[in-house]
Amino acid sequence: MNTNFSYDVHAGDIEQGGSASAMLKAELRKMGVCEEEARRAGVTVFEGEMNLLVYATNGGTVNAKVTPEAIDITIEDTGPGIDDIDLAMTPGYSTAPDWALNLGFGAGMGLVNMQRNADLFEMHSHKAEGTVIRCRVNRRENAKTS
Ligand SMILES: Nc1ncnc2c1ncn2[C@@H]1O[C@H](COP(=O)(O)OP(=O)(O)OP(=O)(O)O)[C@@H](O)[C@H]1O
Ligand SMILES: [Mg+2]
Repeated sequence: MNTNFSYDVHAGDIEQGGSASAMLKAELRKMGVCEEEARRAGVTVFEGEMNLLVYATNGGTVNAKVTPEAIDITIEDTGPGIDDIDLAMTPGYSTAPDWALNLGFGAGMGLVNMQRNADLFEMHSHKAEGTVIRCRVNRRENAKTS
């Protein structure tokens, strides 16, 4: 059975931070997805939703599709977009605003963390259009539910 999740993340709404990740992990556990895969998907979504909250002018969406093979996560926004993806992916690089730094964000590790926790990671961004990140967490054979 395939299941789809969709969450809207509102720009700057720090109270909402982490809720997409928490909801997805709860759903994955209910579906019988193993702890390690739920954790990796949860970390990926957490970093993605935090970036929407901090950087995306209009907020954005987190979508996840769970199949017996994988958890496919898409995180997208409509701007401002990223000029230099290689630079954004560099560990320690951050343009986090003061309010986010004061809350302990802005280590410049979020995108790297997403890439490390996902089996597949791709990011597309254009200044005028926004950013789309696609991540896949593969499910192990013995952990599949119907
Ligand atoms: N959706 C986005 N739209 C525009 N810029 C982004 C977006 N996501 C990330 N960035 C840019 O990429 C940089 C690196 O992001 P990354 O998540 O790796 O680190 P961070 O958010 O700065 O710090 P951390 O995630 O460790 O708290 C950000 O500082 C920002 O400049
Ligand atoms: Mg981040």
